[in-house]
Amino acid sequence: MPLRVRLTLWYGSALALVLIIFSVVLYAMTARNLRDAVDESLEDTATIAVRSLEERGFLPLLNERELLSQFPELARIDKFFQIFSPSGTITISSPNIKHHDVPLSRTALETAFSGHSIFESAKYPNEPPLRVISVPIMYRGNLLYIVQVGTSMETVGETLRRFLILLVVAMPIALAVSLAGGWFLAGRALRPVDEITLAAQRIAAGDLTQRLGMPPAQDEIGRLAATFNNMIGRLDASFRQIRQFTSDASHELRTPLTVMKGETDLILRRPRPVEDYKGVLESNLEEIDRMTRIVDELLFLSRADMGEVKMDALPVALEALVEDVHRQARLLGQDRNIEVVLGTVVPLVVQGDDLRLRELLLNLVENAMKYSHPGGKVEISLLRERQEAWLSITDHGIGIAPEDHKRIFQRFFRTDVARAHTKKGTGLGLAICAWIADLHKGRVEVQSELGKGSTFTVIFPLAPPAS
Ligand SMILES: Nc1ncnc2c1ncn2[C@@H]1O[C@H](COP(=O)(O)OP(=O)(O)OP(=O)(O)O)[C@@H](O)[C@H]1O
Ligand SMILES: [Mg+2]
Repeated sequence: MPLRVRLTLWYGSALALVLIIFSVVLYAMTARNLRDAVDESLEDTATIAVRSLEERGFLPLLNERELLSQFPELARIDKFFQIFSPSGTITISSPNIKHHDVPLSRTALETAFSGHSIFESAKYPNEPPLRVISVPIMYRGNLLYIVQVGTSMETVGETLRRFLILLVVAMPIALAVSLAGGWFLAGRALRPVDEITLAAQRIAAGDLTQRLGMPPAQDEIGRLAATFNNMIGRLDASFRQIRQFTSDASHELRTPLTVMKGETDLILRRPRPVEDYKGVLESNLEEIDRMTRIVDELLFLSRADMGEVKMDALPVALEALVEDVHRQARLLGQDRNIEVVLGTVVPLVVQGDDLRLRELLLNLVENAMKYSHPGGKVEISLLRERQEAWLSITDHGIGIAPEDHKRIFQRFFRTDVARAHTKKGTGLGLAICAWIADLHKGRVEVQSELGKGSTFTVIFPLAPPAS
């Protein structure tokens, strides 16, 4: 069932319920008020009658004419009037009651003897119901008369009947009008949703560059559209990234394959001395090593992407690790005439995986050496900043342009300066570093100026002190 129909139905049912309850309560209250008003007017009339009788010293009334002259309000045709003797028989009654008897009920008589007034309703066939009040007149504790004033409930009944008809007619009309209004409003409110659905279908059909037209209001629908656009944007970016990544990866792997194929083709063209074969095989082995490394790194990154890389979470003494890597790097540096020195190193412990952290540090130190000029100097230092360990590697090499500071962490990205400086490298090292730092809840920051050198700083949260 469409949302619009459901909304309208819900709304209609709730409204109908409210209308019915409202009408019932209104009807009951009106009926009650009308009856109360009748009772009040009966009581007023009775009080006046009783008072007049008292003023006359309770002399017995002789006839109707006398009665009416005494009590002009009794001439009002809507009320009749009777006086009963204590035995319950009528002594006198107003003329407008002539056509039938309204006897005094047992209850009324008993109540009169106890000195109280009583209201009663009476019903005669084919006539509107009557409402009567019976008031005792006492003199020195004895019941002298019972005065009864009554009236027909016809007008009240008629008023209520008309009111009921009004309610019964007006209620469905009100309901119908409201339902139509509800239907219209639900349609209006839901129209942007339909528009979004259509646009989403167009986007789903393949064009990720499309975006939803934004409704002007910052309401629920506006937010939905914004969220949707945001999601499509991310999808678009990540599809682009995947395509870029695949083409980069293929390209990186193709280069060594082309080299190997070219060399092998060439050497097989005619018989050659064993030395030549050996040379080609050695060169091939180098390329195979290179490809193996790329494939290993890609494997690591894709497993990391899927959250499958397992990391130890053991205390690692960073200063020992720094010293190890320094020793290793110093040997490598001797070959390339690059000096690797230790700066300030304070003992610090972080929670993590010793091997991965070593790989991270080595990657950074290797970069620093690789992108230094011959005779350059690389410095490693380890400091504490509040609750963090700051591990910095500084070089005075080729540096990185500011616009590339972010991009160097992307897979396969290498700056042009770096490409010109050395052929070695695939551009995966820093992506891996960023991952390792991330898995240790840390981050890698770069400070670098083109042609002047770079400082890479890895920042880790410190392990909580052993208790
Ligand atoms: N210390 C540095 N000085 C200058 N440029 C750097 C430095 N470290 C990294 N870069 C730049 O960042 C790019 C990416 O570095 P990354 O370590 O990811 O790749 P790579 O060193 O080129 O290759 P490999 O995958 O072998 O490490 C480098 O190509 C280089 O342009
Ligand atoms: Mg590198």
